[in-house]
Amino acid sequence: MTDAPLNILDGRVVIITGGTRGIGIGVARHLGALGSKVVITGRKPERLAEAIALLESENVECLGLVADVADRERAFDVVDETLARFGRIDGLVLNAQSFRPVTPLLDVTESDMNLLFDTGPKGALWLMQAAQPHMAANSWGRIVTMGTSMGLTGAAGYGPYAASNEAIRSLTRTAAREWGRDGITVNCVLPASAGHRAPAAGSDPAREAAFASMYDDNPMGRDGDAIEDIGPAVAFLLSDGSRYVTGQTISVDGGGIMRP
Ligand SMILES: NC(=O)c1ccc[n+]([C@@H]2O[C@H](COP(=O)([O-])OP(=O)(O)OC[C@H]3O[C@@H](n4cnc5c(N)ncnc54)[C@H](OP(=O)(O)O)[C@@H]3O)[C@@H](O)[C@H]2O)c1
Repeated sequence: MTDAPLNILDGRVVIITGGTRGIGIGVARHLGALGSKVVITGRKPERLAEAIALLESENVECLGLVADVADRERAFDVVDETLARFGRIDGLVLNAQSFRPVTPLLDVTESDMNLLFDTGPKGALWLMQAAQPHMAANSWGRIVTMGTSMGLTGAAGYGPYAASNEAIRSLTRTAAREWGRDGITVNCVLPASAGHRAPAAGSDPAREAAFASMYDDNPMGRDGDAIEDIGPAVAFLLSDGSRYVTGQTISVDGGGIMRP
């Protein structure tokens, strides 16, 4: 029996890609409240500056780095800059991905596929490659990827997105197998927290109706909260308490994955 609680994140250094809005900033705020030092990335400097100001106003020790996840060299810079500032890397939350408008499969272009794969599985892999040696040197690391239930169920119009997210889940399992003996766990979260993407009232009636009915068949009947619902599940996967959990996919969606 260990004396120390296993769910402590105090002082842990975690990099969150796409930490400037939506799920990423919610997870960053939750981890920051638990005492983690957080590094957030995004492409847009103004958005990054706003997110950092918000985290600092909540007394979170943090660093913002402009980085496109598709840029492999930049992934290694992100790791170097994190080490320069905080001296260690304990966790990765591989959350960022770029999107394209909904497109039927017959109209999907090579550029659509490249964008989703470059910023999805490839982007996740580049940061894993950059951080893994530092985690392995400490015999401790936690990697959380983000996938989508659309990858499992299929979703008309979301072909490149769904396929690229299944590639992320596959990489998650391979990384779990390759790095388990280095003390590194790798798991995938399928979140549901889409409120920040909802259309403004009166702007687009069809989309508003789609959003309104989104959770009709969800057991909990509501959207997830990035800070209060997604954050704690990610925190568990970043903690000591999840040390015997690896290669898994965990839906954090109020049970929505069970839809008929
Ligand atoms: N929201 C949901 O309900 C839901 C459901 C299933 C899966 N997911 C997954 O969860 C993750 C987060 O979802 P979200 O809804 O919070 O996304 P979001 O609102 O679109 O936010 C995406 C974040 O990633 C950054 N980003 C986008 N492209 C990037 C790139 N190429 N390089 C670096 N940063 C980039 C964005 O900042 P910049 O624009 O400044 O780069 C932003 O911070 C995604 O991987 C998504 O597939 C979400």
